Amino acid sequence: MGTILVTGATGYIGSHTCVELLNSGHDVVGIDNLENSSIHALDRISELSRPPTFVEVDILDASAIDAVFREHRPDAVMHFAGLKAVGESVQVPLRYHRTNVLGTLRLLDAMQQHECTDLIFSSSCTVYGDPSQTPITEETPIAPINPYGRSKAFVEQILLDAMSANPELRTISLRYFNPVGAHESGRLGEQPMGVPNNLMPYVMQTAAGLRDEVQVFGGDYATPDGTCIRDYIHVVDLARAHIAALERMADLTDVRSLNVGTGSGRSVLEVIAAAEHAVGAPIPHRIVARRPGDAAEVIADTTVSERRLGWEATHSLADMASSQWNWRRQNPQGYT
Ligand code: NAD
Ligand code: UFG
Repeated sequence: MGTILVTGATGYIGSHTCVELLNSGHDVVGIDNLENSSIHALDRISELSRPPTFVEVDILDASAIDAVFREHRPDAVMHFAGLKAVGESVQVPLRYHRTNVLGTLRLLDAMQQHECTDLIFSSSCTVYGDPSQTPITEETPIAPINPYGRSKAFVEQILLDAMSANPELRTISLRYFNPVGAHESGRLGEQPMGVPNNLMPYVMQTAAGLRDEVQVFGGDYATPDGTCIRDYIHVVDLARAHIAALERMADLTDVRSLNVGTGSGRSVLEVIAAAEHAVGAPIPHRIVARRPGDAAEVIADTTVSERRLGWEATHSLADMASSQWNWRRQNPQGYT
């Protein structure tokens, strides 16, 4: 048990992880600049667990980060704060590198200054780019194909360099596959701003009548139903992977990065079917042209992560769809 600094605490994955941390007896100091999240997520975290400490801070503000470390003396850091839209990263790459790379450097400086040695970093399967083979193991070459992916790969490399120079430092990069779903209470979930980029939120907004139809990007891939396959993981399973990593940090000193997925793939049409089942009504959808840059199949090999973390994903695709719909139904306007 200890005090965990959670950056990006009010965001989608950070907020679910705060609940799991608090419910497993850890104290949480959350920070966020609220640029892609709502302060009201804190009330929901408190409802589902207990109130975390929260400071509104920009990760790039070195003196504010220093003050947080000075006042709260965290034992470990979970670093979720960052920008995550692939398309936007192509338009404004410097902004992505500034927040994702420089933001992490600021955090590492403060950790060093305050002798905090443990960091769990939110990486992404996007660091693998468009791998020629699935399932993807942690040994699959790192070959990101956009600025967002490169920012994650750069940070992973920076963490390796920092650990080589400082044997006290322990970091793990968790490479998330496709996080979806929401807390089963319906009180926490993802609140995408504007038109969602990702499949599941788009499907749910269509089910809710906000969008006319889901465009299925490509029906002619070499997959059983012709649509792309991804490894969707429930956000609560993902949050629990962080708790497992934190609690096993001492046994994971030889581990640098771990895949966090379910190890099984689902097609776009299967996701839509699961959502239709959860909603109890058909969801209009139509196959259109492929989206440039999409890989046909991206599935995690979770052999190493399950063994080393003593963890495995337990939620089904049906759980992912029903929790996401429950959240959406209870909070049609998100937290506001
Ligand atoms: P999110 O946008 O909901 O959460 C990120 C949080 O970081 C937000 O609350 C945002 O306000 C905050 N933030 C952004 N810039 C900041 C800054 N300069 N200072 C302080 N706070 C800042 O996203 P999420 O889905 O919860 O993702 C969390 C992390 O996981 C990100 O690093 C993301 O790249 C990574 N990740 C996400 C996915 C996914 O599909 N959701 C997949 C792989 C990796
Ligand atoms: N899709 C559609 N219609 C949509 C949206 C998506 O058919 O309206 C399809 C995509 O073509 C893809 C699948 O649904 O086959 C999943 O798409 P997402 O956009 O939800 O997720 P991706 O797998 O494309 O990847 C995104 C980011 C990656 C990141 C990954 C995991 O682009 O960088 O999520 O978080 F690594």
